[in-house]
Parts: sequence; C-alpha cells; structure tokens
Amino acid sequence: MTLLINNAGIGRSSSFLAAGSADAARAELETNFFGPLALSQAFAPILKANGGGAIVNVLSVLSWLNLSAAATYSASKSAAWSLTNGLRNELRAQGTQVVGVHVAFTDTDMARTVPGPKAEPQDVARQTLAALEAGQDEVLADGLTRNVKQGLSAQPGVYLGQVG
Ligand SMILES: NC(=O)c1ccc[n+]([C@@H]2O[C@H](COP(=O)([O-])OP(=O)(O)OC[C@H]3O[C@@H](n4cnc5c(N)ncnc54)[C@H](OP(=O)(O)O)[C@@H]3O)[C@@H](O)[C@H]2O)c1
Repeated sequence: MTLLINNAGIGRSSSFLAAGSADAARAELETNFFGPLALSQAFAPILKANGGGAIVNVLSVLSWLNLSAAATYSASKSAAWSLTNGLRNELRAQGTQVVGVHVAFTDTDMARTVPGPKAEPQDVARQTLAALEAGQDEVLADGLTRNVKQGLSAQPGVYLGQVG
C-alpha cells in the first residue's frame, strides 16, 4: 500500500491570552495544518495513480479538548482533525483511505518534560498499521483518548470542563 504519513508537528506551549500567542498559533498552524494540507494536495494524484493508498494524519486528544498550557496547539490539532475528515470525503471516490490518529502524551521529544504515563510510539505505530490493514478511519491510541472521545457526547461534554 502506498502511504503518506503526516507526522511532523510542533507545539509552542502557549495559552490564547499569553503574549505572542498569535505568532505561536501561526507557526503551529503552518506545520500542523498547512503542512498536511500541502502534502495531501501534492500526493493525492500519486496515491490515485498507485491504486488509492492511504493518508495517515497524526492528530491528538487535543483535537477535541483545549488544554490552556497548549491552547494554540490544541486549536491547530482541531483544524487538522477537520482537514482529516474533509480529505476523507474528497478522496473517497479515488479509493484513498484517510486515517486520523488520536493520542494523548506520547514518549517522544515533544513530551520529554511531561511526567507520568505516556503512550509508547511503537504501540501507536502498531495500532496505526492495524487500522490501515482493517480499513478503519480512526485510531484512538490510549485509554485517555478513548475516554475523552466517549465523553464528547456526555452531559456536560468533557470539553466544557476545566482541562489541565
Ligand atoms: N508527543 C506527544 O505527547 C504527542 C501527543 C499527541 C500528538 N502528538 C503529535 O505526534 C506527532 C509527532 O510528534 P512527536 O511527539 O514525535 O514530536 P517531536 O519529538 O517534537 O518530533 C517532531 C518531528 O516533526 C518534525 N518537524 C517539525 N516541524 C517540521 C517541519 N516544518 N517540516 C518537517 N518536519 C518537521 C521534527 O523534525 P526536526 O527534529 O528536524 O525539527 C521532528 O522529527 C506530531 O504531529 C505531534 O503533534 C504528539
């Protein structure tokens, strides 16, 4: 299967009301939203020519929640989730599978200062490959992410409470 994996991402650890938050948001949107958009545009015809293939977008549990310490990053991951859903619609006719991978803290450089439990990158990758093989659209890679997804339709929705 021919794959485009949009994994590159940055986080500037900015709240919305902090000084410089607009600059942080622009930088994060550039990498986390406009990057996958540009790559998807560039590779969609190549995927089509190779039988459909798949696009994997690495998203976050923060696509659904806004964490104040990473508010602008969260917004960029919400935008990337919408991009993922829109690309799935636009690429369905050419047989390209579009998979959104949602995960909470993961044991990489990005989360090196975060204490506590983190997902293992190898486990996220394994689940992603399994989803590709099974023809699934979404990976919920860890327990927190699965709980948050379920909590979106709770009353009140989990995103309405204090986060972080
Ligand atoms: N770690 C977490 O807790 C966590 C949780 C949820 C989602 N995610 C998402 O997981 C994905 C992978 O992040 P990570 O945790 O592996 O972070 P990371 O350790 O900081 O690695 C990010 C990678 O993205 C690359 N990158 C950043 N900006 C780029 C650009 N403009 N063009 C090309 N490459 C660029 C970096 O390359 P250089 O080193 O060369 O700059 C680096 O290889 C990201 O989309 C992130 O948002 C991470």
